Amino acid sequence: MCGIVGYAGSKEVNAILIDGLKKLEYRGYDSAGIALQHDGKLLISKAAGSVADLEKTLTGQENAVTVGIGHTRWATHGRPTDENAHPHSSCCEEIAIVHNGIIENHSALRQWLTEEAGHTFRSETDTEVLAHLIEDYYDGDLLEAMRKAVSRAEGSYALVAISSREPGRLVCARQDSPLIVGLGDGENLIASDIPALLAHTRSTKVLEDGEFASISADGVEIFDADGKPVDKEILEITWDIEAAEKGGYDHFMLKEIMEQPAAVRETLRQRIDSVNGKVTLSELGFTAEELNRLEKIHIIACGTAYHAGLLGKAVIEKIANVSVEADVASEFRYRDPLLLENQIAIVISQSGETADTLAALRLARQKGLKVLAITNVVGSSVSREADEVLYTWAGPEIAVASTKAYLTQLVSLYLVALYLGEARGSIDAETSAGLISGLKSLPAHLKTILSEDSVVKLRDYCDHLSKWDSAFFVGRNLDYPVAMEGALKLKEISYIHAEAYAAGELKHGPLALIVEGIPVIALVTQKAVFDKTLSNIQEVNARGGAVFAITQEGFEEVARQVESVFYLPAIDDLLAPVLSAVPTQLIAYYAALARNSSVDKPRNLAKSVTVE
Ligand code: F6R
Repeated sequence: MCGIVGYAGSKEVNAILIDGLKKLEYRGYDSAGIALQHDGKLLISKAAGSVADLEKTLTGQENAVTVGIGHTRWATHGRPTDENAHPHSSCCEEIAIVHNGIIENHSALRQWLTEEAGHTFRSETDTEVLAHLIEDYYDGDLLEAMRKAVSRAEGSYALVAISSREPGRLVCARQDSPLIVGLGDGENLIASDIPALLAHTRSTKVLEDGEFASISADGVEIFDADGKPVDKEILEITWDIEAAEKGGYDHFMLKEIMEQPAAVRETLRQRIDSVNGKVTLSELGFTAEELNRLEKIHIIACGTAYHAGLLGKAVIEKIANVSVEADVASEFRYRDPLLLENQIAIVISQSGETADTLAALRLARQKGLKVLAITNVVGSSVSREADEVLYTWAGPEIAVASTKAYLTQLVSLYLVALYLGEARGSIDAETSAGLISGLKSLPAHLKTILSEDSVVKLRDYCDHLSKWDSAFFVGRNLDYPVAMEGALKLKEISYIHAEAYAAGELKHGPLALIVEGIPVIALVTQKAVFDKTLSNIQEVNARGGAVFAITQEGFEEVARQVESVFYLPAIDDLLAPVLSAVPTQLIAYYAALARNSSVDKPRNLAKSVTVE
């Protein structure tokens, strides 16, 4: 989620790195740093804040240097501070590294490095273990040392290193996090994203998982995991800088929708114990006693995060057998809620800065409740003021309409439910194992939903939908909050007036609005209410409404009752909301596109709502 850039050539590297980092700031912007090879030493500068803040710390010594690496950070492990900013260096400051990704076994490696190998750490990051491990294996060949170091690391990495003893050389490794080599004339570059390369070259080679590279001004060598040289085709980039920032997509929203399989994988990473297969939320400091005597949980959030909270309520009640109330933060803070002993609050906020959510958090704490925050931004106000924090690790979300943050909030709530269920003994081993295996299958299922065929189908449907000024979303049980989120997404970016109804409520009023051809999107993923929802669909059909159903494979009966149907891969009903949200996001996106709306920055809305 962070940004990496490295350069070897004959130009002043300082300006090249700063410019490259500015192009990558949309990937992470809480701290930045550079490391340069200078007269047999490394010059390292880093600063919390923006790349502009880093620039202020530069002294001029950096000028005339021609090889270096840079990083702009989106914090995961460790707060956004100067010390935690990359590059990280080894004990004797002979090696510096920048890293994107997460090292899952960093605690065990840190323990070994400090207790057995005598290393001293300076930061709270997982990354720093790699600097020390490389140092431990280093005897003059940086690539060999990196190969040995990463063989002990579990997790994901795009890793670039320099050594003061090997002037002119950068070495890199990639696993589950992108790295692209930029090929120049008498200069070569490495970056995590194409925007950082475009000012210098359009000729690139993309590293694959398990590959390593050694880069200097006059050459690039790429090796596979066994150390054999790899001959790669050159990929010419035709995107302009704006398209490159969006990963080649037309909008950040679509890019972020497409990033969801990876975002969900990151959220789950390290939170399921590989030995006993159980959920392990080691970052949470609740005692077993606290969890056992819990009588009520208050979930508080705004907008999309509130919809995640509604699903969280249903899932936690079911799995952890504890009563949950879900509130919109702006209501919670003024309704004088009954906050008592043996209760906790969970606040959910992508930005961690939403004024109403923050006020609700403060109120809950003032009344003596312990507060758990689920947030995407390390160091945000919500994360600082809560007692416990569970980060969603979705990476920066730029489009105003929340998509990948929402999905990772949902997954985090499932993790919390399973963690509570385990601690309270309210879930049996078989059910728990089934749900955990279902959670692990989500990234692959999300990829299927985001395949080209599915997307084309949704796009075609949106041609019809976009001609209407009004639409309905309906569903029962867990499908109802998904319908609410689908309606919110559609209205905020396409400006089509959309309402969500519990399907059983239609006949209590809204049915009066159903006219010939009006779009009705029905969520039908819950077996327990399947027949009931089908009856509600028939009520709509009878009035001429055009129903588009989102259902699971195996629920083929639905196709006979509706105009069009979208099938999700079959999954446990409890987990279906994670999948069914995605077609609703794409429906909103393509409807907005068909109506020429400003997708990433809808009118009247801001990404972070820091006012009441
Ligand atoms: C809608 C959307 C908003 C946010 C809400 C809360 O797509 O993004 O409804 O969910 O403003 O924001 P956070 O999660 O930052 O507290």
